[in-house]
Amino acid sequence: MKGLILSGGKGTRLRPITYTSAKQLVPVANKPVLFYTIENLVAAGITDIGIIVGDTREEIKKAVGEGEKFGCHVTYIHQDEPLGLAHAVKVSQGFIGEDRFCMYLGDNMIEIDTRPLIAEFAADEATNCRIMLKQVPNPSAYGVAELEGERVVRLIEKPREPVSDLALVGIYLFDHHIFEAVDNIKPSWRNELEITDAIQYLVTHNYVVRPYIVKGWWIDTGKQEDMLEANRLVLDRMPARNEGFVDADSQIDGKVIIEKGAEIINSRVRGPAIIGEYTRIVNSYVGPFTAIYHHCKIEHSEVEHSIILENSEIVDLPGRLADSLIGRNVELGRSSIKPRAFKLTLGDNSKVGVL
Ligand code: TTP
Repeated sequence: MKGLILSGGKGTRLRPITYTSAKQLVPVANKPVLFYTIENLVAAGITDIGIIVGDTREEIKKAVGEGEKFGCHVTYIHQDEPLGLAHAVKVSQGFIGEDRFCMYLGDNMIEIDTRPLIAEFAADEATNCRIMLKQVPNPSAYGVAELEGERVVRLIEKPREPVSDLALVGIYLFDHHIFEAVDNIKPSWRNELEITDAIQYLVTHNYVVRPYIVKGWWIDTGKQEDMLEANRLVLDRMPARNEGFVDADSQIDGKVIIEKGAEIINSRVRGPAIIGEYTRIVNSYVGPFTAIYHHCKIEHSEVEHSIILENSEIVDLPGRLADSLIGRNVELGRSSIKPRAFKLTLGDNSKVGVL
């Protein structure tokens, strides 16, 4: 089995963060979303992994390298334009060849252990495709599948009428017949080659497409609320650890991870939370479900239920920062320069709620 991770795309829903960087590299509990995906494939014994990349390819290559730190070998596959998930499959044909493969969307996170399912598909030559499905309350927002027993009989993209509440999760198992399918479908109204159309082609042409219904959580981290939710779910199941320094005047409550070189000075940190490498928390409060990445500074401020990316500073904030996603190299604080006013440098599509 080979692995294929889709890490191109535009990431419009996560702007402005994605103007300057890949959404798959935004950290959840201080680890880029993409790394969870690679680790899941490697845990399932898949060590030959292709990563589809687009405009953000240099940044992704720098973060992942050739895969040695994950115990795998990575081949980068360039997609000139994000013309759809099925288009990404098409451009990977040279890499996949005749092998069976597991395709993951690089911005999706899933709770369940996919190892048994991948092993079963690897050995089951009679099944051409296996799709993961999850029951959702709002099927009209997703591609959904209609089933008859153990077979998928129809796929519908964002149905107006609720024919099924089983949405396609961003993990798929294919054999080489998917290349025949992607060669025979046409672009949709949004000018993308849709993976649902490709799978529908398999169904229509009597290839065996079977479902697997996922019970645990599944999150498409495409939007800020989803990133925060994924952060909450992952932090909640991580054990506490202290590789940094906590002074005698500080108080740590609940599950808190303090990474190497981090310092907590005269502060209170209430878990679940993670404080990244060489980050300093001074005279501050860090509340539950907060992930502060490396080389940040939080001084005389209060932060909770937020993700803060590397090299950012929050100093002398007059109110508590909550439910926020703060990018890289951000400086957030009170200005001493008169007249006192909000002085902001914000990227396009930023969202700010003030007191
Ligand atoms: P999407 O979230 O569907 O698309 P997107 O990344 O363009 O994001 P947005 O809707 O916010 O603009 O993509 C799912 C994953 O697949 C994501 O990791 C990007 C990747 N992808 C590709 O690699 N190539 C493509 O052509 C597309 C559409 C997505």
